[in-house]
Amino acid sequence: MDSSLANRLAARDLAVVWHPCTQMHDHETLPMVPIARADGAWLMGHDGRRYLDAVSSWWTCLLGHRHPRIVAALNEQLDRLDHVMLAGFTHEPAIELAEALVAIAPRERGRDGMLRRVFYADNGSGAVEVALKLSFHYWRNRGEPARTRFVALTGSYHGETLGALSVTDVALYRQTYAPLLLEPIFAPSPDAYEAMPGESAAACAARRLGELRRILERDARTIAAVIVEPLVQCAGGMRMHDAGYLTGLRALCDEFDVHLIADEIAVGFGRTGTLFACEQGAIAPDFLCLSKGLTGGTLPLSAVLTTNDVYDAFYAEYSAGKAFLHSHSYTGNPLACRAALATLSVLRDEPVLERNRALAAHLAKRIAPLASHPNVGDVRQTGMIAAIELVKDTSTREPFPASERRGLRVYRHGLERGVVLRPLGNVVYFMPPFCVTPEEIDLMVDVAIEGIGKAIA
Ligand SMILES: Cc1ncc(COP(=O)(O)O)c(C=O)c1O
Repeated sequence: MDSSLANRLAARDLAVVWHPCTQMHDHETLPMVPIARADGAWLMGHDGRRYLDAVSSWWTCLLGHRHPRIVAALNEQLDRLDHVMLAGFTHEPAIELAEALVAIAPRERGRDGMLRRVFYADNGSGAVEVALKLSFHYWRNRGEPARTRFVALTGSYHGETLGALSVTDVALYRQTYAPLLLEPIFAPSPDAYEAMPGESAAACAARRLGELRRILERDARTIAAVIVEPLVQCAGGMRMHDAGYLTGLRALCDEFDVHLIADEIAVGFGRTGTLFACEQGAIAPDFLCLSKGLTGGTLPLSAVLTTNDVYDAFYAEYSAGKAFLHSHSYTGNPLACRAALATLSVLRDEPVLERNRALAAHLAKRIAPLASHPNVGDVRQTGMIAAIELVKDTSTREPFPASERRGLRVYRHGLERGVVLRPLGNVVYFMPPFCVTPEEIDLMVDVAIEGIGKAIA
């Protein structure tokens, strides 16, 4: 272990690398952390320091870093085929993965196996772009070119490429680029934190469905799709809603004949307690966007699952001009598909979700006392995602001004104590890899509580 090597790497980095989601000036005081290795729930710095990855490296690392089955699958694949373009060519990993995804996709009562087609891309935003374009293009191919608008929920986050950013409602990311973006219709989120005093999460969801109904009554003929992050609006602050919203949303989309796009990029693959969040509303969307945990967090890959109805609207003689000509160079990369297949095989062969239930219960027990903290406005949890909302005043729920950057103080404290917490503004959250132990949960919660103490002092 070499702290001078760590320092040299940090200096070289800052001389040449421009980091995502970062005001680079912050690094005049904030340490840049060069990571040498990772194992399970832990990241290891070049200086020998260890960090518990309580946020799964931006929610990608599903089962733990360097899971042996994923590593073995990647090594084996690397000896055979690195990459080939997916236009005109195919390969076993892409075929097997599409078959596997179709087999486990969420199902809806009375409409078995709706999602039967898989379109690959290579990151989450790319998947959202694909779903938006497919939906618009579907209606166009069906003779309804006026369906140019999308409905998104307030507080939503769907990525940062221009299309995905258009349906994102987090001012931090959206505001600057607003002049470049499509203008969606934002429907009020069923976020239970924003429920009226005394209103249950279910009643809040029902009220929000009523508001969405009015939008659809007015504008459905010009709307292609409604896009939702099922159960948890993650980057918008881990805001959670009642599963009944999903059931009602599906029914409204059917009634008004608009598509439903479920963005499970963050919440898919067991994060919310079920393999897919949509299962808790007993629904299947018209488009399901997957990424992040899909490869266990090893390689970039995304997939959009859709129906034969959508596929068939594009299937025609070339001269009809109906084809979906969207492409990314690394679409369906064989290595990434192999990593995804290994991830799915672990989820199939091992009692991962069952184990998660016990871990989630432990996490719930450990964070519960924070509910009475004088600067905590809410403690919430859905499966393996838990969040603590810091507020200036619990009686009014007045937030700390963003400029005070309280969350950054929690982050700094976490780094000092060897836990990666990366609050979203005033929201401290946990989304650990599924290999986390109860003792590691204790550590991350203890460090977060200490950090909160420092942040509000
Ligand atoms: C719900 C959701 N959709 C889309 C994205 C964008 O994914 P990516 O960062 O891979 O572009 C994210 C990323 O956090 C996300 O949480």
